[in-house]
Amino acid sequence: MTDNTKVEEFETLLAGIDENAAAPEMEPMRQYYFIKKARKWVKEQKERLGRPLTACTVTFGCQMNARDSEKLIGILEKIGYVITEDEHADFVIYNTCTVRENANTRVYGRLGALNCIKKKNPHMLIGLCGCMMQEPEVVEKLKKSYRFVDLIFGTHNIFKFAELIYTRLISDRMVIDIWKDTTQIVEELPVERKYPFKSGVNIMFGCNNFCSYCIVPYVRGRERSREPRDIIREIEKLVADGVVEVMLLGQNVNSYGKTLDNPVTFAELLRQVEEIKGLERIRFMTSHPKDLSDELIEVMRDSRKICPHFHLPLQSGSSRILRQMNRRYTKERYLELVEKLRASVPDISLTTDIIVGFPGETEEDFQETLDVVKKVRFDSAFTFIYSKRTGTPAAVMENQVPEDVVKDRFDRLLKEVQDISKERCARFEGQTVDVLVEEINDHDPSLVTGRMTSNLLVHFKGTKELIGKIVDVHLDTCKGFYYMGTLVNTEE
Ligand code: SAH
Ligand code: SF4
Ligand code: F3S
Repeated sequence: MTDNTKVEEFETLLAGIDENAAAPEMEPMRQYYFIKKARKWVKEQKERLGRPLTACTVTFGCQMNARDSEKLIGILEKIGYVITEDEHADFVIYNTCTVRENANTRVYGRLGALNCIKKKNPHMLIGLCGCMMQEPEVVEKLKKSYRFVDLIFGTHNIFKFAELIYTRLISDRMVIDIWKDTTQIVEELPVERKYPFKSGVNIMFGCNNFCSYCIVPYVRGRERSREPRDIIREIEKLVADGVVEVMLLGQNVNSYGKTLDNPVTFAELLRQVEEIKGLERIRFMTSHPKDLSDELIEVMRDSRKICPHFHLPLQSGSSRILRQMNRRYTKERYLELVEKLRASVPDISLTTDIIVGFPGETEEDFQETLDVVKKVRFDSAFTFIYSKRTGTPAAVMENQVPEDVVKDRFDRLLKEVQDISKERCARFEGQTVDVLVEEINDHDPSLVTGRMTSNLLVHFKGTKELIGKIVDVHLDTCKGFYYMGTLVNTEE
């Protein structure tokens, strides 16, 4: 299923393109032209080999990358590749993340394994894209020691994927195309969703916050927002195509719209999205506490569709460390925001991200973090060990915390977070709640798995016909971080 452009519409557009003429200058027509040219190549290969060509994308990192991979798959399918999850495919592409060092290590490790596969199948093509490719040292290393990679591009020119594939298909050299930044946003390219019933929707790209530990602003470029009308049009098309839940995506959704010619607040955008008929659930990710407005809290309070879940990254509970991190809020301000959210949206689920071991973090600072964790009682928290990212201000700060100290703090934090999480999770026991059914249970095919508005998972007896539907489920027992439930009735 293709959401952005219906199949027939797309084919009509493609039929109108003369692939023997010069490539159009304008986007997205230029990419349609290259899709048509690459499709011809894939078709010829298929006939020659007597079997379809396969492609596999592997995604690392955040929701933003997951959505980008859906765009990659959309284009690969249009070109004629059959999508598989098997890395023995004819075309394998890694969409990489570089937020922490271990993300990079994993990619290098897997590339080694991919090289062995390629040695047995020399026709195989290997592509790399995403955040890691925006680091010049990475590209240098790949050029030097990973010559078997065929195609390398970054985060700013992902819309050119069709053109880049075609460039590689007709040459036999490594193709590298990395842009430093861009102001361009190309609309109306093919996308293949992972789930028919829910979808991420980019509302903005890049980040201007420069938290001192974070590499994202360097690899994703300056903040730019999509026009509200483009976002609304995309969601309307998604809904027409069966989507009931959207997740609005941006590194800092609370500063959405500030750079548009006609500025719009995130709260205003949410009001417009709420009006879309047929859309049932709205989520968003990620919010920065410094930009969380009263207007947004009011919109959440009054909304019937925005899920009562807020992911509000804390990073540290120490105001001193927060200043060093360039987060631009204090411990007190954070706690105040939590109170406001809880006062306006009853039973809201709060989740967060926390970094342990930022340079100069003392035991006292760490105790401040534990204090916030105990006061807020997060429904869940992603906890990270600080990772030094070359080029960020924190990488050259003195007083990097010794590994064993960080590990000890991390373990203590994790225990606290998990104990609270279990208690918080159990608070819905005995209630009947709305559940969006997502899939057949991984371990027991007589069960289906769905998601509550709070984002918790619940497993219950059901069949595949329920997938994509919102149903009432009685929450029988809490099993720590998820529920076992019973279907009450379906919507019809
Ligand atoms: N834009 C989002 C987060 C994007 S990165 C926000 O501001 O909340 C996701 C998470 O990775 C961050 O919230 C942070 O907790 C973590 N992170 C980022 N850089 C890191 C680093 N250098 N070391 C460890 N964790 C990091
Ligand atoms: Fe990184 Fe901060 Fe931007 Fe989030 S807001 S992506 S943590 S710089
Ligand atoms: Fe990673 Fe890039 Fe997301 S660095 S966390 S994939 S924005």
